[in-house]
Amino acid sequence: MTTVVDGRALANDLLNALPPRIQSLQAQGVVPALRIIQVGDDPASTLYIRNKERRAAKLGIDVAVIQLPATVSQAELLAKIAALNADPAVHAILVQMPLPGHLDDAAVVAAIDPAKDADGFTPTNAGRLWSGDPGPVPATPAGIMAILQRYKVPLRGARAVMVGRSRIVGRPMAAMLLNADATVTVAHSQTKDLASVTRTADIVIIAVGIPHFLTAAMVKPGAVVIDVGIDRLADGKVTGDVDFAAVAPLTSVITPVPRGVGPLTVAELMIQTVALTESQVR
Ligand code: GUN
Repeated sequence: MTTVVDGRALANDLLNALPPRIQSLQAQGVVPALRIIQVGDDPASTLYIRNKERRAAKLGIDVAVIQLPATVSQAELLAKIAALNADPAVHAILVQMPLPGHLDDAAVVAAIDPAKDADGFTPTNAGRLWSGDPGPVPATPAGIMAILQRYKVPLRGARAVMVGRSRIVGRPMAAMLLNADATVTVAHSQTKDLASVTRTADIVIIAVGIPHFLTAAMVKPGAVVIDVGIDRLADGKVTGDVDFAAVAPLTSVITPVPRGVGPLTVAELMIQTVALTESQVR
């Protein structure tokens, strides 16, 4: 029996806990404020940002998108981040990835005040997560942990294989699973005989950005499969990194694309924005 995760319902459930927290901040004269920096106009980024902006506005979060041209210099971008770090009315800062090639991602991320780090990507917060003392954490893996918890997937001692090693998903996901006592393997584009690795997994999480990359032959019957891909097919349709039709019947729990992990990413960013605000008020 396969359970297909309803990411939208879970996201709405988690978001329902926020209005009382936001009202309590407002009673203290504080409106949570999130600033999203977009460099250039990548259409996928524009769409993701619009989803974040809409949800934040709906919750009464003060949200603004700061648009910078694709040609912005590293120095100009760092100056913008420094100004937001210094502004006491701003509680959470996010620089949408990917950045144009001439910019140094790592330096840009490192410039964000760790106390305002909405994505949890700064070296300080990544280090805290890997030390087992998490502060702000990346939204997508946090959302996946929420799914695993809600669908009662046992983690202690479970074999988890993370396919992908990005700063946004793979690395923090591996740390969170490790912190939850799973036995974690991180596989990636250089892994030899990937199928033999993923077939050992009780839980497979895939974030590679290649449509239908994970096939039935790569999955152990009864496994839990989490698909982080948001991939576009030639006909424009959105699909995931998992060959859902073939893989789903093998699994105990699987996330669809869309309406799987995606809604959780947005919800977790909202939760983190409120939490960052609370910690700056107290
Ligand atoms: N690009 C894709 N996902 C994300 C995310 O969660 N945060 C940021 N900043 N950029 C992204």
